[in-house]
Amino acid sequence: MTTTETRPAPPATVPLDDHIGTPVDPLGAPLDRLDGYAKTHGRARYSADHHLDDMVFAAPVHAAVARGRIIAIDTAAAEALPGVLAVITHTNAPATKKTPRPGFTSPGRQAASSSADLLRTDEVFYDGQPVAVVVAESIDIAQQAAALVQVTIAATTADVDFDRARRGPTDKLSAPPILSVRGKKGDADRELASAAVVIDREYTTPEYTHNAIEPHATTAAWDGDHLTVYEGTQNIDGVADHLAKRFDVPKANVRVLSPFVGGAFGGKSHVWPATFLTVLAARTVGRPVHMALSRASVYRTVGGRTASWQRVAIGARRDGTFQAIVHDATSRLGSTGGHPEQITSCTHDMYAADAIRHDQRSVTLDLVPNTYMRAPGESIGTFALESTIDEMATTLGIDPVSLRLANQPTVAPVSGNRFTHHRTGELLRLGAERFGWADRSPDVRSMRDGNHLVGWGVACGIHPAMRANANLTMSVTADGTVTVRCAFHEMGMGSATAVAQMTAHLLGVPVGRIAVLYGDSDLPTGPAAGASVQTASIAASLERAADALRSAATDVARRHADDLGLRGSALTDAAGGVGDGTRTVGFGELAGRHDDRELTVSVGHDTGWRSLLDQGRMVTRLLREGRSIARAATAAQFCEVRIDADTGELRIARWLGVFDIGTVVNAKTAASQLRGGIVMGIGMTLFEATQFDPRTGRIANPSLTEYHLPVHADVPRIDIEMLDDPDPSMPLGVVGAGEVGVTGVAAALASAIHHATGRRHRTLPITLDQIVPD
Ligand code: MOS
Repeated sequence: MTTTETRPAPPATVPLDDHIGTPVDPLGAPLDRLDGYAKTHGRARYSADHHLDDMVFAAPVHAAVARGRIIAIDTAAAEALPGVLAVITHTNAPATKKTPRPGFTSPGRQAASSSADLLRTDEVFYDGQPVAVVVAESIDIAQQAAALVQVTIAATTADVDFDRARRGPTDKLSAPPILSVRGKKGDADRELASAAVVIDREYTTPEYTHNAIEPHATTAAWDGDHLTVYEGTQNIDGVADHLAKRFDVPKANVRVLSPFVGGAFGGKSHVWPATFLTVLAARTVGRPVHMALSRASVYRTVGGRTASWQRVAIGARRDGTFQAIVHDATSRLGSTGGHPEQITSCTHDMYAADAIRHDQRSVTLDLVPNTYMRAPGESIGTFALESTIDEMATTLGIDPVSLRLANQPTVAPVSGNRFTHHRTGELLRLGAERFGWADRSPDVRSMRDGNHLVGWGVACGIHPAMRANANLTMSVTADGTVTVRCAFHEMGMGSATAVAQMTAHLLGVPVGRIAVLYGDSDLPTGPAAGASVQTASIAASLERAADALRSAATDVARRHADDLGLRGSALTDAAGGVGDGTRTVGFGELAGRHDDRELTVSVGHDTGWRSLLDQGRMVTRLLREGRSIARAATAAQFCEVRIDADTGELRIARWLGVFDIGTVVNAKTAASQLRGGIVMGIGMTLFEATQFDPRTGRIANPSLTEYHLPVHADVPRIDIEMLDDPDPSMPLGVVGAGEVGVTGVAAALASAIHHATGRRHRTLPITLDQIVPD
């Protein structure tokens, strides 16, 4: 399946209607997003777009030291400002429960970003921590008043310098068992010592901040002990459970609405301070409160990707086969929270070698807790592993595609687990053919074009495939409309459209007859949109629901066979309904014969012991699969750079990404996801870095003027190829496309730069000043 980036004229009508007549099986079809019309016409209301009656506005006050104790907060000037309703600090905040500690035993703990009890403590744990919140009649007044609050903090020694900390004592990284942060096969150090050729290198990558188009925003309203929250999140259930626990109300009283999310990438997986403070403010002033963070406040209160140090050592024979791979990494956590990243897990699964060892350590810093960011681990881990492979190829005089092909594993290299399917070799071969790789001249600086040094680079990528639980209901009404209800997340990647297509495929009903309700905690609990699990998780439940709906419809058909003109003894599944081999009666007509003119089935359980049982089954399945199989989305990235021989100005001339994501549910949205991952990878390789001042822990560049993201001129045409090969172990064969796109990008680009200039770059980002040729 091939999609090439084009910019067609947008459709003038609502796509939903367009799809009513879709005659073919829509699975894989490049349909427009069902929510595209609302978004392109300004009708989509994001969490900052809700204007509730009597609503007021809040702004945070940030601590300006990295570690210490609040001695005094002078709020007089802020309170004196006309329009200010409240200045809430740890001295006057209404009582709340302690925050659930970050952990994995409940959705509320899983959504905790930090163990810090904001506004219940005088302790400061990182520069930027909110220490007060101002509520006022307008955003401007709230922000002005926030600037007038005088906070006196007695500073104590803070550890904020990753580079210094990682050279000192480090801790064993504790991670949940499903993350392959360490592994061992044979004696890798001994094999390394005896290898014919050894490449042993260190790599560093900086902190990165998510920069979703929609900055974090919350609108919260209390009605007695019922709470409504509009929140852009990828974890509706976690947010609802977390807030219920902190404000001591039943979870059923908390409604979290998140129908539109303007990008998230992992940065909206948790309850970050502003969400909690907005709800607290609403409770304090007894009115709905809205808080939209400034870009700077997002940087300072929402964690991003950890910095990393990595070492990769590869030992090879002269024929290129690997004897040993060693991959070590150190990342950081925050003192009150943060997440391990499986930086070395790519080495667990990507290449065969006689011996392999990979392991991770961590340091704890007095910084905002780090969090998930698109392909946490694999994005930066593949930079180190794949760059070392490129260097090995150069040293051995073997083409980098051939070297990778020579070391493709037949079983998972460390565990020996069976691959559910594994086609990375085909990705490389297909990509090489499409890119014209055979024309690459192997020597560095050998592909000059006028004043441009031309370089071609290649690298592979990987992201594991998992699935979680998805509760949902599926109903059909007498008019033939099928409605799927599930509190999943549409963050711009096309999830809702994919759900409609999978439902249409399973029932044989046109996409235009499918309504999908999502983004609301009052709906059956969906999966979090993380770890690329959402589509496959929902697919599994849709399969079960479609079976149940068919069987309910068949019951109705049997009971009313005579009226319907069906032979009751010969009933059989048919596209769009139930048939008898001669005639088909549609689901709508069958629903019309049913008592309440609607057929509804549900999958999964939201409450009680059945819900616990569902959770237990999911964890058991994850652990069992972890012991027996290896399953992943994989990538082969090819790119061409052109570098001005005098100024070092770099332009990426073209990009080709070839992917195995299992079944392609929607060729357009899947390609866009992968393309977006590549753009994000370009940013992480060439431009982005969150610069924490190593003396103070303050972010020096918390704005889009100083934190450089790729703009249109930095991004070339990106061609995407997808194998569209179902994974036999996954529902509908779906593997997940959210994160694999970013993996391998940094190494492909760094290798292309080396090919062009002869210079290796092992520290990201590779900025212009480092590229200027000799
Ligand atoms: Mo992702 S980094 O699990 O949104």
